Amino acid sequence: MAAEVELDGVTKRFAPGQAALDGVTLQVERGELVVVVGPSGCGKSTALRVVAGLEEPDSGAVAIAGRAMRGVPPQDRDVAMVFQGYALYPQMTARQIIEFPLKMRGVPRGERERAVEEAAATLRLERLLDRRPGELSGGERQRVAMGRAIVRKPRVFLFDEPLSNLDASLRSDIRLELGELVRRLGATALYVTHDHVEAMTLADRIAVMRAGRLLQLGTPREIYERPATSFVGAFLGSPRMNLIAARVTGDAIVAGPFRLPRPVGKLPERLDVGVRPEDVHLGGSGAPGYVVAVEPLGAETHVVVRVGDRDVRARARGFDAHRRGDEVKVAIDASRALLFDAEGAGERVS
Ligand SMILES: Nc1ncnc2c1ncn2[C@@H]1O[C@H](COP(=O)(O)OP(=O)(O)OP(=O)(O)O)[C@@H](O)[C@H]1O
Ligand SMILES: [Mg+2]
Repeated sequence: MAAEVELDGVTKRFAPGQAALDGVTLQVERGELVVVVGPSGCGKSTALRVVAGLEEPDSGAVAIAGRAMRGVPPQDRDVAMVFQGYALYPQMTARQIIEFPLKMRGVPRGERERAVEEAAATLRLERLLDRRPGELSGGERQRVAMGRAIVRKPRVFLFDEPLSNLDASLRSDIRLELGELVRRLGATALYVTHDHVEAMTLADRIAVMRAGRLLQLGTPREIYERPATSFVGAFLGSPRMNLIAARVTGDAIVAGPFRLPRPVGKLPERLDVGVRPEDVHLGGSGAPGYVVAVEPLGAETHVVVRVGDRDVRARARGFDAHRRGDEVKVAIDASRALLFDAEGAGERVS
């Protein structure tokens, strides 16, 4: 069966030099929600725009539901896109904006009203439906733009950072409902975000991009536990994964003050050892260091410890008793450490 959305070697260049998209091949299955992440400027919005038909690739192809999209205008693709910079008709009310696509399609009034109510409930917009964009906050406007996309019940949703302007609690409420709604509609979705939690919780699979290329496509768990490169490992996860420069010496890997058993098989000479903050343990035995920062979040505390000339990030449960300046012993869980080639693309070697 053909994938629902397919990018096949898509390259897009706006100017000579660095391509915005550089040979991106990606298949999204029907009903799947793929979250696209990567640093600013890596090509996420461009990827969505070529699927929407707002940009044509220079080379490579886009297909939706097995149908080649070259030359097919956006309105004939059955795709709804929520843009990063949402533009709303200033003279319409939120209700009129949301129901507009249905009105264009000749959907009867009663059905339109039901669709608007449903979208408004999902997006917590019930009491704002009679306001115009000028009377709405940035986050409210963002939700109206999403409502307009949702009521269309398209085959494919393209969301470009749709919740970026919302406060944390609204964001998590809408995240849950949006994920549920997209799945209930059986729609396929590409969803761009900079938010680690959104990526991990919403995605069936996460696509990690860098400089126009797709580095890895995998389930959130695969990406987190088996990142293809040190960049992917460090990109997803908060606080960031520790990367400690290391060398292989005899039967050990020496990463600064830490020693790990050397796994069997060929290894490059220079490595980066990747250790998630939850696999760093403070107190007990280990390398001596001192605390340089403590960030209590309630359920957990992030502690930064200077060990020799490097900072190691640790995650402790609840409110941790460590204070800035405290001397502390630092140990890493070697069984959970990842090994990356320190050269080239930083590929994971173990
Ligand atoms: N219309 C355009 N003309 C020229 N360059 C463009 C255009 N659109 C995007 N670019 C460039 O293409 C690259 C990818 O841009 P894109 O908007 O896809 O990045 P992004 O990953 O969405 O970034 P962000 O996270 O900041 O939104 C960037 O270097 C950007 O400057
Ligand atoms: Mg963008």
